[in-house]
Amino acid sequence: MIISITNQKGGVGKTTTAINLAAAIASKGMRTLLIDLDPQANSTMSYVDRRTVEKSMYDVLTEPDVALQDVIRKSEVKNLDIAPARIALAKIESKLLGEIDGHFRLRDKIDGSRTRYDAILIDTPPTLGMITVNAMVASSHILIPIQSSYFALEGTDDLLETIEKIKARPNPTLRILGVVITLHDRRTVIGKDVFEQIATVFGDKVFKTTISKSVRLEESPAHRESIFTFAPRSSGAAEYYSLSEEVLSRV
Ligand SMILES: Nc1ncnc2c1ncn2[C@@H]1O[C@H](COP(=O)(O)OP(=O)(O)O)[C@@H](O)[C@H]1O
Ligand SMILES: [Mg+2]
Repeated sequence: MIISITNQKGGVGKTTTAINLAAAIASKGMRTLLIDLDPQANSTMSYVDRRTVEKSMYDVLTEPDVALQDVIRKSEVKNLDIAPARIALAKIESKLLGEIDGHFRLRDKIDGSRTRYDAILIDTPPTLGMITVNAMVASSHILIPIQSSYFALEGTDDLLETIEKIKARPNPTLRILGVVITLHDRRTVIGKDVFEQIATVFGDKVFKTTISKSVRLEESPAHRESIFTFAPRSSGAAEYYSLSEEVLSRV
């Protein structure tokens, strides 16, 4: 299974979901790879000292001779490897646009490493450009984090339209695995409204697990740890573990 974690809105919890879901899946003994495709490299920094990153996904996607395996790094988490991003990735949008195989670069590179991993997760940037399209073309599933707020559904039309286009041609077997509501604030009443709003659009695709706002989730990346070692008894740890169970039961 290859899961893209995608929403073109920034700040909705894509990276937080990618790093902690990857750690949860790895903890079940599955060989897991987290591919960071966001030039901001936040997923990378959560597990790897970015100063030590020489080759990155930029090289994988632009250099025919660089294989995915050439850039992969081990993390401190057992069974979890990282394919790091660098700011250079920002240049890729224009670079891939004119290329005949521009949408297929990631899929082609993953093909060579597919059997080494039981699960591959891809963190994507807050755009629907070439990088995100590469992720969708290479994936079996899409997981959409949506922030619990009154504007939660703004922009989901464009996202769903892009997914339909990818399904129509380059990747007919792509499926939406589910929608996870993030940054939920239990103290406010909007939470329930928002859940219902999102459920009207996505129906039973909405995961039962909701991720609450938690300072621990915000803090753990700076310590280069997942929530499971940084604050194993926090709500964030319990919720991301529960999300991983739901994810694995759906694939
Ligand atoms: N459940 C949460 N509780 C508290 N802070 C969170 C939570 N999820 C994400 N954040 C914080 O919100 C900000 C945006 O989250 P992030 O995962 O980077 O979103 P994205 O990758 O979609 O831009 C980050 O500072 C992150 O630490
Ligand atoms: Mg991010």
